[in-house]
Amino acid sequence: ARPCLIAPSILSADFARLGEEVRAITAAGANWLHFDVMDNHYVPNLTLGPAVCAALRPHTPMPIDVHLMVEPVDELAALFAKAGADHITFHPEATRHVDRSLQAIRDAGCKTGLVLNPATPLSVLDHVMDKMDIILLMSVNPGFGGQAFIPQTLDKLRAVRARIAAHVAAGGQPITLQVDGGVKKDNIRAIHAAGADVCVAGSAVFSAPDADGGYRGIVSQLKAAAAALPA
Ligand code: DX5
Ligand code: ZN
Repeated sequence: ARPCLIAPSILSADFARLGEEVRAITAAGANWLHFDVMDNHYVPNLTLGPAVCAALRPHTPMPIDVHLMVEPVDELAALFAKAGADHITFHPEATRHVDRSLQAIRDAGCKTGLVLNPATPLSVLDHVMDKMDIILLMSVNPGFGGQAFIPQTLDKLRAVRARIAAHVAAGGQPITLQVDGGVKKDNIRAIHAAGADVCVAGSAVFSAPDADGGYRGIVSQLKAAAAALPA
């Protein structure tokens, strides 16, 4: 079976102890470090910049998965590439030239792809499938952790999964399908079954009760729940 990778979002970590938190989720068996960048312009919140990315880089071997919620895109993308990011994804409506932004991130040595908001149509993918390594589907509106999963995302996931399969069948490169927002133990099975390869989990990981066995416990419970056979 396809594994379901877990990408804890440090948006929900303790910002006063970020290095420790990153080491802890690394030791817990997480797969990617999801790094939410908000600019109080594209989204109404403000988070972390390239200096924080560079400071955390030595604390984990996990890929640093930068999710840019910023407008414009290109200048910050270049700074994150220099700061040690492995993946840089962005929202197509936040840049003037989508194809150019994708190419620039790849030229800087990072994996890249587009992020689709809940209301963004799949047509934004049409002419850039060959320029992407990742497609990130938002299952909440961007800007905050701790929101509820929007159930319509499941249909959208199946549709994007089918597009990726058609692209690969036609000789295209593989594209990783990622989901972000409201992923919990009780919905990750449906999300993975609908096509997600990677699930971001912010509050589910960092606000897990101690009874779940700390970060190691919740990360393994999320993976096990994703892989469970349907009831
Ligand atoms: C929302 C961010 C998400 C968020 C996920 O704008 O892109 O990555 O941190 O947090 P949860 O898992 O709590 O919904
Ligand atoms: Zn995110």
